[in-house]
Amino acid sequence: MTTAVDDAGSRMSAFIRDPYPTLARIREASPVSLVAYGEGVSVWLVTRYQDVRAALVDPRFGQDVRRSQAIAAKAGGGITLGSDVVHMLNSDPPDHTRLRRLIQGVFTRKRVDAMRPMVERIAGGLLDGLRERQQVDLVADFAFPLPIMIICELLGFPPEDLHSYRTWSTAILTRGSGMSFEQATAEMKTYLHELMTARRATPRDDILTDLAQARDAGELSEQEVFSMVFLLLIGGHETTVNLLGTSTLALLHHPDQLAWLRANRGAMPMAVDEFLRYESPVSMATMRFTTEPVTVSGVEIPADELVLLSLGGANRDPARFDDPDRLILDRDDPGHLAFGQGLHRCLGSFLGKLEGEVALSGLLDRFTGIELAADEATLPWRNTIMLRGLESLPVTLRG
Ligand code: HEM
Repeated sequence: MTTAVDDAGSRMSAFIRDPYPTLARIREASPVSLVAYGEGVSVWLVTRYQDVRAALVDPRFGQDVRRSQAIAAKAGGGITLGSDVVHMLNSDPPDHTRLRRLIQGVFTRKRVDAMRPMVERIAGGLLDGLRERQQVDLVADFAFPLPIMIICELLGFPPEDLHSYRTWSTAILTRGSGMSFEQATAEMKTYLHELMTARRATPRDDILTDLAQARDAGELSEQEVFSMVFLLLIGGHETTVNLLGTSTLALLHHPDQLAWLRANRGAMPMAVDEFLRYESPVSMATMRFTTEPVTVSGVEIPADELVLLSLGGANRDPARFDDPDRLILDRDDPGHLAFGQGLHRCLGSFLGKLEGEVALSGLLDRFTGIELAADEATLPWRNTIMLRGLESLPVTLRG
């Protein structure tokens, strides 16, 4: 069966607005199926929890972007996989191991616990700014600035350039956003180059300084430094912004769950896991390819084929989660795949969860009433099948 999941027609909009009925149908009818992706390229889409989880930890599914790019090109496809941006998420060992090792110390549970005051300070400042206004766009005014301000503080990026980071990262991730992928990466490279030069002259306690020093010690190339920063900047905010927007919307849809959460504030970490399962911010894991023929749920995927693993589909699989389409905040099941699994499991998972907990707690603490201020059907969703998130969420706040 070939299903288009990537065309810009009306089916796409319906899929973008609510992908779960289509994913459920595909998971039921053909859990490992060929789908049209980009111009002229077919990729395998895997939607069952067990299959997705197994593939995430299986080294026969490679990530090396140069090889994925070659496979896409051979199929005559026009997919932009960004092969000049080579980072840990689109590399295989030993490059992946080397790159991840260089930075993983910054994001351990212990180091992230110590970031709590900084996260609370930034979240508190943003929420205070919302108090004066009756209606706000919760995405533009809170969900977006919070994680980007945090990752910029860790990287050592000037906060006054936030708007540029947003423009670049939207152009890199979303087609038809006004700026091309190539222009965004070129602009970002020039900008980074200038910042790195400044850090060499005046070192600071930030990731950029660490990377400049590692570069000078020959531990990674200049191109790898740029790519690492791209990945941290984009991975560090495009995900949490989605989590915050969709979690708030989910609470507005489920007043009983909102009331329960207000009454059980200590349950926030467990609730965040359920938000991550219910609306997985990264709905598709990044593109993989088969290094040899692999049989998944009885279907043989030949070698050198592109594969998409549906994290959103897996996290709604009724074979793994009872009543998967219901938001149940006390589900108490952290076995979701929203952070991936295996070698590439999210490096920032502790930070992402902390941001979610602090942000949602702060919102509930400060505002006793939160109401949707737009027609639900008109809410704009991000126009990509890879991420699940709202572009804006107008709400009225009381309290
Ligand atoms: C709620 C927030 C987040 C979600 C849902 C999320 C999700 C994910 C997922 C699904 C992957 C694996 C993708 C794949 O295997 O194809 C991943 C990888 C990654 N994430 Fe996150 N992420 C979040 C927050 C963050 C933050 C805050 C950072 C910043 C430090 C970050 C940095 C990374 C990096 C560097 C990788 C690549 C790891 C590797 O290849 O070894 N993420 N993330």
